[in-house]
Amino acid sequence: MAFGRAHRVGTMPKSTSVKPPVVPEKPDTDRSATSASKENNELYAIMDEVRGALVEIIDAKELDHLAAQDARVEIAKAIRRILARRPAPLPSFMVDRVVDELVDDVLGFGPLEPLLAQDDLTDIMVNGPKDVYVELGGRIQKVNVQFRDETHLLNICQRIVSLVGRRVDESSPICDARLPDGSRVNVIAPPLSLKGPTLTIRKFKKDKLTLEDLVRFGSITPEGAELIRVIGRTRCNLIVSGGTGSGKTTLLNCIAAFIDRDERVVTCEDSAELQLQQPHVVPLETRPPNLEGEGEIRMRDLVKNCLRMRPDRIVVGEVRGGEAFDLLQAMNTGHDGSMGTVHANSPREAMRRLETMITGGGFNLPARNIREMIANSIDVIIHASRLRDGRRVITDITEVLGMEEDTITTQSLFSYQIEGDDGEGHVVGRHVGGGVTQPNIWPRAVYYGEQQRLADALQVANAHVSPDKSFGMV
Ligand SMILES: Nc1ncnc2c1ncn2[C@@H]1O[C@H](COP(=O)(O)OP(=O)(O)O)[C@@H](O)[C@H]1O
Ligand SMILES: [Mg+2]
Repeated sequence: MAFGRAHRVGTMPKSTSVKPPVVPEKPDTDRSATSASKENNELYAIMDEVRGALVEIIDAKELDHLAAQDARVEIAKAIRRILARRPAPLPSFMVDRVVDELVDDVLGFGPLEPLLAQDDLTDIMVNGPKDVYVELGGRIQKVNVQFRDETHLLNICQRIVSLVGRRVDESSPICDARLPDGSRVNVIAPPLSLKGPTLTIRKFKKDKLTLEDLVRFGSITPEGAELIRVIGRTRCNLIVSGGTGSGKTTLLNCIAAFIDRDERVVTCEDSAELQLQQPHVVPLETRPPNLEGEGEIRMRDLVKNCLRMRPDRIVVGEVRGGEAFDLLQAMNTGHDGSMGTVHANSPREAMRRLETMITGGGFNLPARNIREMIANSIDVIIHASRLRDGRRVITDITEVLGMEEDTITTQSLFSYQIEGDDGEGHVVGRHVGGGVTQPNIWPRAVYYGEQQRLADALQVANAHVSPDKSFGMV
């Protein structure tokens, strides 16, 4: 579809007409599936017809001068005029649907619009034109949202990636982008994706969760949260590990809230998600290559550069490659309290991943030296997990102690122990202490005047000590 210019896209306020909330798909009980799809096909044919007529009567330049809401109103009026000219008038509910869908198509992201407007969704997953899923309250469910066909979906994808100056087609079928509201988008198109264009949106949450929220949700106990507070305040070097969507960034954001207001913090991210409230924060963002494949600024370039910016702390959104080396160096050379997230299934795996990232980054160092570097720079690893029932839990607070022979030694201060299942698909478990009373971070706590808080939190945590600590890892 030719009209609907990229720079307008997604900046439209929602129309004032109230749309029904998007509901999970239910089996169609009162109508057969074939009659529903016949009705859809009929509607699609009408929409194509109206779209054709619309291009002729709408002056794109004129629209540019209109405020967003006025543009919606003008287009809606034009669509209604076109529909009124049809020999067989449509029932009013069909008119409303054609108007809503076409306005979203022309000015926004088409069928995605109602999903984007729904604040409680965390992810939107489009697997080809007919299969749309959302994550709502930790559960993935299918919704009754569809695109007309692959071309329609690809057009919407195109519009999204054009916001960051990219194109998606057969020659460049993978693309990351960001919506104007900060939501992160990944598109992978055919021939790589076999079901048609596949779009994954991680919606941006304006109101980030706080540590208190995590306690309220049962993701961590109050004493666990207290430990995290101490770790943040005492400027521990920290890695947050976990799988995709486990809550790493959320946790990093919570911990960053304990950074002092007078510290200079430089953050490096692929797409700015962290929302630090301190006044002296410099957020940096990587840049993908342009259409000619040039001009890419990678995470490593940013981290290296931010070392020249006199930071007190460095926060790296996601450590994925050679920047691991620079972050560890920073931690080792006076930028105490630096932190980053690593994609891993356990704290121990996070350390292995860091090692591989450094080796893979072209640093020709013996494995033992890399491990020593990891052991010397990182104080604590906090691990987040998304359990199989959809709940997100902070499963480990683990201290990195040092080296024994070629192995990095750690000790668990706090972990989540899975005890079973309640029979209704919910995981049953509890947080337990590691039995440690004088942790490695004790001198730091003393230095920053946090020893009492630390001792109290550990005492409560250690009231339940895991008989088998490794069991706490999920
Ligand atoms: N403890 C939690 N309880 C409930 N929802 C959470 C929790 N932690 C994170 N979330 C939500 O889960 C989604 C993914 O979190 P995010 O921190 O972006 O994950 P990651 O960085 O690991 O991919 C976000 O929508 C976030 O608000
Ligand atoms: Mg993240």
